[in-house]
Amino acid sequence: MDERVLRGPSARPFVASILVFAVALPAGGESHPATLTFLRDGKVVRTLDLDSLRRSCGARRIELDDPYYGRRAAYLACPLGAVLKLGFGEPVSREPAETFFLRARDGYARPASAERLGEDGGFLAFADADLTRSQDAGAAGPLEPRFAPIDRRQLDPGPFYLVWTKPGQRDPDRYPWPYQLVEIEAAAFERAYPHTAPTGLPPDAPAWRGFATFRNDCIACHSINTEGGKIGPDLNVPRSIVEYRPRDQIKAYVRDPSAFRYTSMPAHLDLSSARLDELIAYFEAMSTRKYDPHRAP
Ligand code: HEC
Repeated sequence: MDERVLRGPSARPFVASILVFAVALPAGGESHPATLTFLRDGKVVRTLDLDSLRRSCGARRIELDDPYYGRRAAYLACPLGAVLKLGFGEPVSREPAETFFLRARDGYARPASAERLGEDGGFLAFADADLTRSQDAGAAGPLEPRFAPIDRRQLDPGPFYLVWTKPGQRDPDRYPWPYQLVEIEAAAFERAYPHTAPTGLPPDAPAWRGFATFRNDCIACHSINTEGGKIGPDLNVPRSIVEYRPRDQIKAYVRDPSAFRYTSMPAHLDLSSARLDELIAYFEAMSTRKYDPHRAP
């Protein structure tokens, strides 16, 4: 049994055996209303609850090969394009400057480009179709959405789980598959995370390439200067990771964390040693660019 959490880059196909014993959980639960909040540049634009969403999004039953469960799955879902249009009041612009931050309840925050989210094939699942009594996705009346528990921590993936239907979209390294999704913010990356870039270095410096890798593979879980996801530790403040861990150990850990400890961090076996060196160059650059709002004078 692969012990790694299957979220984020380098997710592994899930070993399905323990699902035999899975207990279906209600999505949301009493303390968590099933709502999705939309923000633009830090300000709330709209909050939609599941009932209004599913009645106006063109909800339907979809089937796909799910990389997290490692099996065929059927969901009740809204087309992503319709959801973004309902939330933001306009279709997704394909502005390259616009980034969408997909935030989960547990602190996972995956950035995705407008271009990626605008592709056909994205759906916002709100229930497992086979575990949920009402099969009529968009109907009025009560729906008790259920999902099977997901990942090593056996979480309820509700209230919303972003899934992709096309075979070329199955890789969670390249396509965002966040579960427990509760918030989507549209903002320029530089505006949302202004203290994460190795500013001042020449454009061809390795640290910039390390930053690109960090944005793609790490920032959904880790922050730099407190900006980024909250699943793993901040890697720059108060002390930079390169200030207390040897370089070789960091590289080995990032490649295969569960060789060190049973952990929620996924493996990155595909990262070449050149790209790991660039990540180290990025951490070194950031260690001389610290910004810590918790310790502001
Ligand atoms: C799915 C979430 C997730 C992703 C993606 C992720 N990490 Fe982590 N990482 C964690 C968690 C959780 C921890 C802390 C617990 C642990 O060490 O197991 C951690 C710990 C670490 C540590 C600290 C190890 C130590 O104790 O000194 C480093 C360094 C690290 N991650 C680097 C990275 C880099 C670089 C990437 C991208 C290539 C990355 N992580 C991607 C979740 C993640």
